[in-house]
Amino acid sequence: MQARLPRSPSVSVVLGSGLGQLVDALDDSISVSFDEVPGFVPCSVEGHSGQFVTGRLAGAEVLLQSGRYHSYEGYSAEVIAAPVRVAAALGVRSFVFTNAVGGIRENLVPGDLVLIDDHINATFQSCLPRSESCMSEMRFPYDPMLRSVAKELAVRMDIPLVRGTYAAVLGPAYETAAEIRALEVIGADVVGMSTVLEVGIARALGIPCVAFSMVTNKATGLRTSKLSHNDVIEVGQQAGWRLTALLTELIPRLAKEVSPRRQND
Ligand code: HPA
Repeated sequence: MQARLPRSPSVSVVLGSGLGQLVDALDDSISVSFDEVPGFVPCSVEGHSGQFVTGRLAGAEVLLQSGRYHSYEGYSAEVIAAPVRVAAALGVRSFVFTNAVGGIRENLVPGDLVLIDDHINATFQSCLPRSESCMSEMRFPYDPMLRSVAKELAVRMDIPLVRGTYAAVLGPAYETAAEIRALEVIGADVVGMSTVLEVGIARALGIPCVAFSMVTNKATGLRTSKLSHNDVIEVGQQAGWRLTALLTELIPRLAKEVSPRRQND
């Protein structure tokens, strides 16, 4: 990998469904498809092309991961965590995760952007081998300093950014109305099918994380029409520009501000 991507990225950005626009903003980009990485399998989900792209964004060296593995594709937690381990091995000092979600909180509508404050791992899977997962600390999955930089930038750029708790479910079926009611009762604002296992491994490796959700639909129990994966991709593509604009400013800031790797404290 190091030979194919001869760069030292300081920030890794994982792009969710329909949120791949940032790839086009990179200068001097070099891409490596997941199926060229030893041990990796191709991503099978539409809207997730499965590649690493390194390049420069406003002078900052960045590693974009366009596409990711999901439990609902039948992959183990180790496979899902593998791209995070690759980014860590390339030396990234912070992770930015993005994902598409259904909005559970009443006032969330398609196109809204959510800064994830905390999460509920309702996949009931761990991304860590037993030796690493032993008592791994997950009190602060999302770094307070990175979150405050994101909030400050959003205000300055006049981009509405609300805060919320992300619940991750296994999928691939969208939730039942009863499941959405249950998730709401336990404190979830949005629901998706990714991110928490990746954040788990990044935190175990001592790398700070920040994450954003793009609301692509109201959660299934709260809508009357049928939801399809194409709807999710379409909204991501239409409304993703605001998240892309925010990330374009955020990444160079993180590249400057995040100090060499911290341990999971
Ligand atoms: N549920 C789970 N995952 C999702 C949804 C949803 O409603 N929308 C986008 N990803």
